[in-house]
Amino acid sequence: MLIAQISDFHIRPEGQMAYAGLDTNAMARRAVATITALDPAPDCVLVTGDLADCGRAEEYEIVADILSTLPMPVFVIPGNHDRRETMRDVLAPTFPYLRQADDFLHYAIEDFPVRLIGLDTVLAGEDGGAICAAREAWFAARLAEGDGQPTLVFMHHPPFRVGVSGMDIMMCDVGAGFSDLIRKHAEIERVTCGHYHRPITTRYAGTIGLVAPGIAHQVALDLRPGEPNRFIMEPPGFALHAWAPETGLITHIAPIGNFGPSRDFVLDTAYPGKNDQ
Ligand SMILES: [Fe+2]
Ligand SMILES: [Fe+2]
Repeated sequence: MLIAQISDFHIRPEGQMAYAGLDTNAMARRAVATITALDPAPDCVLVTGDLADCGRAEEYEIVADILSTLPMPVFVIPGNHDRRETMRDVLAPTFPYLRQADDFLHYAIEDFPVRLIGLDTVLAGEDGGAICAAREAWFAARLAEGDGQPTLVFMHHPPFRVGVSGMDIMMCDVGAGFSDLIRKHAEIERVTCGHYHRPITTRYAGTIGLVAPGIAHQVALDLRPGEPNRFIMEPPGFALHAWAPETGLITHIAPIGNFGPSRDFVLDTAYPGKNDQ
């Protein structure tokens, strides 16, 4: 099973740029085109939050239009730039799983060999996120239904520290109960996130915590304590999670862009070791 993950669209009303110069809409279209061209095709696509830049209905109309070109099922969750109600109003007709719960945009998808559990970490009006008691209880109930089947948890705000000051101040606030749940369910192959706009991997609660790159701007790598986040136009990217019974889940991170065709390795006749027998 192949699961593509694209994150942080930050879609703007048509003709408007993000951060006074970024054509995030064009970059989202390019990301979707990259996913569409993958061979073999992914079985589904996750979009891990910040779909809209300002949570406006017209932005979600554009999100729906961009995602409509993907031929496989698409699973979206909200980020801090989204507005839960507006996102559901515009996108639920296309993505009915957004109505699985009344209060939050969380859901479980049982259609594949890997169970997909999408969490809603949004705290309205805040950059950071949270899993409150109600959301943790919902999550516990879904995990209890899983019967040990391999599971991928996806959420916008990472629930783990990444050692970057500007990121760790806006992580997902979770209680010990949430991490204990993850730890108790060894079938959780990954907790995969967005929000930080650059690829990061860590060990978390007995599983792997992953952050996918953004499909537009990246947040500059800056490990100096106390520095704020700044963005940088490093190559955008996506995650491709490949699952098979014999390997479990393997995640590849790849850039989005045109890097020319792949080429055969042709060794020089004097290549070290080539003529040694
Ligand atoms: Fe974002
Ligand atoms: Fe975010």
